[in-house]
Amino acid sequence: MQRYTLFPMQTNLFCQFAELLYLCSTKKQTFTMKHTILTLAAAALLFSACGTKQGTVNEEQTNNNTTMELKNVNERVNMGAKLYVTPQPALMIATYDAEGNPDVMMAAWGGQYEGNQVCFQLSSHKTTDNLRLNKAFTLSYADARTVAESDYFGIASGRDVKDKVAHVGFHCTKSENVNAPIIDEYPLAMECKVVEMIERGNGGAFVVGEIVNAVADPAILTDGKIDIKKLNPLVWDGSSFNYYTIADSVGKAWNSGMALK
Ligand SMILES: Cc1cc2nc3c(=O)[nH]c(=O)nc-3n(C[C@H](O)[C@H](O)[C@H](O)COP(=O)(O)O)c2cc1C
Repeated sequence: MQRYTLFPMQTNLFCQFAELLYLCSTKKQTFTMKHTILTLAAAALLFSACGTKQGTVNEEQTNNNTTMELKNVNERVNMGAKLYVTPQPALMIATYDAEGNPDVMMAAWGGQYEGNQVCFQLSSHKTTDNLRLNKAFTLSYADARTVAESDYFGIASGRDVKDKVAHVGFHCTKSENVNAPIIDEYPLAMECKVVEMIERGNGGAFVVGEIVNAVADPAILTDGKIDIKKLNPLVWDGSSFNYYTIADSVGKAWNSGMALK
């Protein structure tokens, strides 16, 4: 990894070495000496050219459009700019198609960013088409009980399977508030309307949704609030590609840090 940082410097050194050798090749030298010096200079130039190319590829792999020089921080390992961060939610987006067939897909690249707003990034999928059509969806969390079915919803496409929901033996009920299905087997559903779709030019889109209502199975509530232990949502770890469940609470938000204030 340190190579990313050092290579531009090495490249520069080899260039300077080649230049120095070339300057050393004076008329006073024998033909053999001159030949040797020029060969060394050519080799140094070739090596530096290879270095430049290698360095650029590394930079492109780590950052799509820029050619910035990456620097290390102390003993840390540079991970580059493109990596699967962890943890991520296992969100289930449910929609209807033009014929009223339900579809549901897994999405880890998204989440809630306001009390009543959600957003996610979608590639070209049947779900993406359905969202353009109906401007509505429901959002649920996959849980430990439904890991196989939920993962299937992230593998199979509604473009190939007419009704993915029925295929796994799940059921749906039409939302009362938006034109989208609620998957009965998921205990929490946020009923959302699409407020913005930023098209990405490759069939995919960045989607912003507004939660107009949420419906919860009483079984996941404690004192009228969603109980995360009862909901038991899946967490997707993009580093290992495993699903996890959430363990114990280790602190209270806006409270645990008070002692340090
Ligand atoms: C763990 C996991 C996470 C995923 N996250 C996303 C995502 O955030 N965005 C996306 O476009 N596709 C994502 N997918 C892929 C879609 O769920 C998958 O392509 C699905 O088949 C699309 O279904 P559809 O064509 O019926 O809409 C994910 C798949 C898995 C297994």
